Amino acid sequence: MLYIIDSIDYDPYLTDACVPPLSPLSLPVSNISISSTMDDSTTTTVTSNSLTSDPKTWLSSNLVSVTQISTSGLLLLFETAQSMRTLVRTVGGDSRLRHRVLASVFYEASTRTSCSFQAAMMRLGGTFLHVDGGAGGNTSASKKGESLEDTIRCLECYADVTVLRHPTTGSVQRVALGGGTVKPVINAGDGVGEHPTQALLDVFTIWDELGLSLDIEHGDSKNETKHAGQLVVVMLGDLKHGRTVHSLAKLLARSSIKHELVLRYCTPKTLEMPSHVKEYVDQFPNAKQEEYSDIREAVQGANVLYVTRVQKERFEDIKHYEDVKGAYVVDGTLMSCAPPGMIVMHPLPRVDEIHTEVDADPRACYFREMENGMFVRMALLSLVLLGSP
Ligand code: NCD
Repeated sequence: MLYIIDSIDYDPYLTDACVPPLSPLSLPVSNISISSTMDDSTTTTVTSNSLTSDPKTWLSSNLVSVTQISTSGLLLLFETAQSMRTLVRTVGGDSRLRHRVLASVFYEASTRTSCSFQAAMMRLGGTFLHVDGGAGGNTSASKKGESLEDTIRCLECYADVTVLRHPTTGSVQRVALGGGTVKPVINAGDGVGEHPTQALLDVFTIWDELGLSLDIEHGDSKNETKHAGQLVVVMLGDLKHGRTVHSLAKLLARSSIKHELVLRYCTPKTLEMPSHVKEYVDQFPNAKQEEYSDIREAVQGANVLYVTRVQKERFEDIKHYEDVKGAYVVDGTLMSCAPPGMIVMHPLPRVDEIHTEVDADPRACYFREMENGMFVRMALLSLVLLGSP
């Protein structure tokens, strides 16, 4: 299996214009890490910045990595998500995806990602079929030895788009871009690789909560810029295994146009942000990266605290998990010394890393974040299935 990134989106102003590619040796291949279980007969290409402000560029497109979306494409998606929110809140939805079917295929546990995609589809008049490939209730033909490619190729006979989550890093990219599929595939999390739609809803939430502008080329976007100065984002917890933070760090670096971005990584030793993600972020002059071990220090002057759970299922040695699992807890005491405007996010599920007493704090926005997931996924489905916002 060979993955090629055909152009790297290193654009300090983050316009859609292509910029000189980096030398092959410095290509950030992090979003497409390769699993040893893959066969090596296929060449796969991820085209950076291919999803732009032109809605037609989204039509029938796969989404496997955040690097595919240009900043003007991000703005289109977010403005569409805002109008989806208004639509849901006023009349509940519409029928633009009538007779369209989504295949929701999950080989790992999911509540939010699967249900928000399903709800998004139904809010727009479509429907879905769900395949549970998880260890406990695997009802898919993979149990009989069917390859992932064949399962998806088969489901495409019934559905118009596939949303796929799989424990093997790189597997969704392999299926989506390997040449065997004829309909769009959306990555809902590939092992410890990427989780692009979570990063989209996370950046949308930051943009929405802090009143950031993502404007690149059209003067100010409709979102009024309330935030001034640097954007300081603390990422806390298991950054080694957390695919959401891998995608989020990349997407924030790509979209930090008006604000200098400071990413503060606060982790137990051994669960640090992988170097391939740090190398990717390093390409963007507007993005700084810092390492912390003390959470109280890390939150000083922060705008966002993004909390992740320690991912028990990814540890080979359960003793190692036991040693690090309680390393950080966000509670009322921490919140009392955090900045008054600092939002607290979490992709969820949480275990015990955010105390429930924090839920009532207006700065805790993880449930609003979760709701935004449906609006962002409605926007994505409309763009991918219809090519229109
Ligand atoms: C995350 C995931 O599956 O990567 N959850 C989600 O999609 N909302 C985070 C996690 O499982 O910890």
